Amino acid sequence: MAPPLPDTAPPTPRQRVRAVMRRAAADGLLGEEQPVAGFLDAEGIRSSVRDLGAAFAHVPDVLHTFAVKAASLVPVLRMLAGLGMGCEVASPGELRLALDAGVPPSRIVLDSPAKTPHEIREALALGVAVNADNLDELRRIDALRPEGCTSVVGLRVNPQVGGGSIGAMSTATTTSKFGVALRDPGMRERVVRAFAERPWLTRLHAHVGSQGCPLELIAEGVAQTYRLAEEINEGLGTRRITSLDIGGGLPVNFGDDEIRPTFAEHARVLAAAAPGLFDGRYGLVTEFGRSLLAKNGFIGARVEYVKEAGGRRIAVTHAGAQVATRTVLMPEAWPLRVGAYDSDGRPKGGTPVRQDVAGPCCFAGDVVARDRELPALEEGDFVVLYDTGAYYFSTHWAYNSLPRPAVHGFGADPSGSVRLATVRSAQTLDEIAAESGLAHAGALAGLGAQERS
Ligand SMILES: Cc1ncc(COP(=O)(O)O)c(C=O)c1O
Repeated sequence: MAPPLPDTAPPTPRQRVRAVMRRAAADGLLGEEQPVAGFLDAEGIRSSVRDLGAAFAHVPDVLHTFAVKAASLVPVLRMLAGLGMGCEVASPGELRLALDAGVPPSRIVLDSPAKTPHEIREALALGVAVNADNLDELRRIDALRPEGCTSVVGLRVNPQVGGGSIGAMSTATTTSKFGVALRDPGMRERVVRAFAERPWLTRLHAHVGSQGCPLELIAEGVAQTYRLAEEINEGLGTRRITSLDIGGGLPVNFGDDEIRPTFAEHARVLAAAAPGLFDGRYGLVTEFGRSLLAKNGFIGARVEYVKEAGGRRIAVTHAGAQVATRTVLMPEAWPLRVGAYDSDGRPKGGTPVRQDVAGPCCFAGDVVARDRELPALEEGDFVVLYDTGAYYFSTHWAYNSLPRPAVHGFGADPSGSVRLATVRSAQTLDEIAAESGLAHAGALAGLGAQERS
């Protein structure tokens, strides 16, 4: 048996989850009326941001932006801005959230692969940094850049260093849709020319990896981008490229509580692959998402029924594809750890039995864990889906018109007891109806009626 923790030891992430589950069950934040919710660990987020800052502390000029797609919640962005971070945005919606969170435009980077002329114009008018995804987009920017534009403009390249273990998350494959494919015939020369022709084009961008990509692969992509910048600057005889956006993509360990790999390891591998990267000649921008938030959040969901089918025990819960879309649709690539809690929010004991943990969506594949050994779940219990602070409850899928779940932040008050704050309220049925065309209810019935009569 583990020795009791000394009074002064800060609670472990697991202890924090347990304390929050107890409070959530007691306060009705989880229960019959709110059968699923997301939870975010404020202290854990602060600690991750500190780790990121420390890993790059020796770099003279670095802007850490948070990839908004990983947790598109204004309170998260506001908190991160308060900790000195900017935002990486990939749509007009994400840009709006970053601005509403109070992030200054000069600390926002717009990266999407499908920017419309309108979006580009707006971003450039605001002074938001824009990374063009391709050479056609650069030509649009030629025409749209206003007089006196303060936006940093960059070009995204794809160093085509190959993919990791999850094809759908690998951005630097030969045929990836992102960036200018550097190894395709003639493309490197065209990139060099694009910089030669545009004194205002001063940044190279590469977001190489993501979940499933080894550190060395990511570092190789960044190193190639760095070497391209050196080649362009030497060729032009001037420091045209002044900053490098090295993207995000640090993978996360979903297997246990350990943070692995760390930002510090990532920085070491980057420095080994591109020794000049951190010497201060280039300003750096980073765009981490998952590695900052995943381990700082979890989903709690009620077990509604438990049944048997074909000899298999199945717990039907309220957390399925609507909050764990990738896990349900690509279970091999995105396995999640599941915890069993009783109806009072206490961890369940008992001999583990094999069971499926299913979700509420009306399709057979809506299962978040198959044939998993867990204490026998019963009606009214709760399950916890660990490490779901990024891309899960904040990126809800509207299937079956299931509501966006509430999100609660948690921390400790000075006495050490749990404090909770609403980050996002659960979507109401009125909101679901309003967002499903209620205002245009008669629109289709009125079409074509004359022709038929
Ligand atoms: C351009 C860009 N930057 C940053 C990120 C964040 O990646 P991650 O959450 O893996 O750190 C993404 C993710 O898709 C991205 O496309």
